[in-house]
Amino acid sequence: MERLDKFISSRGALSRREVQKLIKSGAVTVDGEVCRLTESKVDDGCLVSVNGQAVGEKLVYIMMNKPAGVVSATEDKRDKTVLDILPQALRRPGLFPAGRLDKDTEGLLIITNDGGLAHRMLSPKKHVEKQYVARLDGEITQETIESFEKGIVFRDGTRCLPAKLKIAENGDKTVGTVTICEGKFHQVKKMFAVCGLNVVHLKRISIGNLYLDGNLPIGSCKVLTNLEIGQVFIGKLH
Ligand code: URA
Repeated sequence: MERLDKFISSRGALSRREVQKLIKSGAVTVDGEVCRLTESKVDDGCLVSVNGQAVGEKLVYIMMNKPAGVVSATEDKRDKTVLDILPQALRRPGLFPAGRLDKDTEGLLIITNDGGLAHRMLSPKKHVEKQYVARLDGEITQETIESFEKGIVFRDGTRCLPAKLKIAENGDKTVGTVTICEGKFHQVKKMFAVCGLNVVHLKRISIGNLYLDGNLPIGSCKVLTNLEIGQVFIGKLH
């Protein structure tokens, strides 16, 4: 059981104080009856409504360090999905991966039931930065860095927005850090391919200012606070 004000604020965009005002004004019903007591106890079995609108599932944000070999989907006929590898305690209806990583890509993935967040995070207009570490089969040249800066054009004419490329290691084991602010299909691999390089390993390390927890083993998850998930919308390339 949870306090009514906490129950409502944790399932939507209203603050605890705003919810308390609404409860006192008579805008909240529990199982069809007006309830003006902010500290009343409710649980997911109760039908709670605000101004006639049912309050939905509690919004959850899960950080996964996605392993290679699982697909970023809710279901798949052939492969294991990121939802299949969620620990039992975190499973609930309505969860989905907010954005996609390729099957062979590792790293930061957000799993949530908040469609609004996913929409804002993935909207091309929001330009949320995503940072990847890519291991490559050849050297990163100044020309490649400049091409990324100018905006890579794919072979089919699709133009990418300017991206940042930094050399982490060059030579036998070339590693680059790439920052892009859009999410075209296989974008990072295709950008390098235009410059004649193959990505042999790819890992996402950040979305906005939210960084993959370095202590999170590959394949593991942790629940994020509202404050932590808010970091997604901080930090801009453009
Ligand atoms: N770019 C890619 O090529 N693959 C990913 O998984 C993410 C970005």
